[in-house]
Amino acid sequence: SCTSWSRAVSNASASSIDAVDAAKRLAAYTAVDRHVQPGDKIIGIGSGSTVPYVVERILQQGDERNRDRVFLPTGFQSQQLITLAGLRLGDITQYPEIDVTIDGADEADTDLNCIKGGGACQLREKVLAEAARTFIVVADYRKNSTVLGTNYTSGVPIEVSPFASTSVLRSLRTKLDSPNATLRMARAKAGPVVTDNSNFIIDAPFTEVALRKPRELLASIKLLTGVVEVGLFCGVVKAAYFGNQDGSVTAKF
Ligand code: 5RP
Repeated sequence: SCTSWSRAVSNASASSIDAVDAAKRLAAYTAVDRHVQPGDKIIGIGSGSTVPYVVERILQQGDERNRDRVFLPTGFQSQQLITLAGLRLGDITQYPEIDVTIDGADEADTDLNCIKGGGACQLREKVLAEAARTFIVVADYRKNSTVLGTNYTSGVPIEVSPFASTSVLRSLRTKLDSPNATLRMARAKAGPVVTDNSNFIIDAPFTEVALRKPRELLASIKLLTGVVEVGLFCGVVKAAYFGNQDGSVTAKF
């Protein structure tokens, strides 16, 4: 289901951050206010440019609440974020049961299926999503879609073992109908992007017909030998919050 409501954004509109950042902040603040409860002690922190606003709002809940909490990162970026905020850093291996994880998304459809991995973190993100009693995504209005692939057109991010990257690329192109699948290159084109797990990323665009059935697509990609994790999240999101340009928030749950 899906609801919208208005909320004051005095801080966001008064500051120098742009409309997209204001929307990210609004989504993040709303999610923290609704889902990070006083009793929550183990909290997963996702990756991307929306998540800093999640941490910002958690800090505003005060030292008293945060003193007893442990924060688990989904990658190097969120590890830095947690540490620099002065929050206590933990590890999923020590804390396999998470109260709530909040993360960004590249896109979410009507049924709360998501594409994630724009920042190459989808393996750890999915581990922390599945370990959480409540998994929430937060994003700006550009990520709110009916069908995956409508607004995020770079393709599904797929983490692969470097050894298998060429064979997986070939299989995606020839067997799974993704002729434009490509290895993600670092900005300087110096070489492939390397994940926090020392793997590579393939971005694989699929047809709308395939993306309308994300569970089936996920299953068929995962069967390719050498695929470590796929940036399709199906059946794991409890609620998604999208900040809108007019200062309202759309919630899907
Ligand atoms: C990283 C992710 C991010 O959560 C996703 O790319 C969204 O990022 P942003 O909040 O910057 O839009 O999945 O792997």
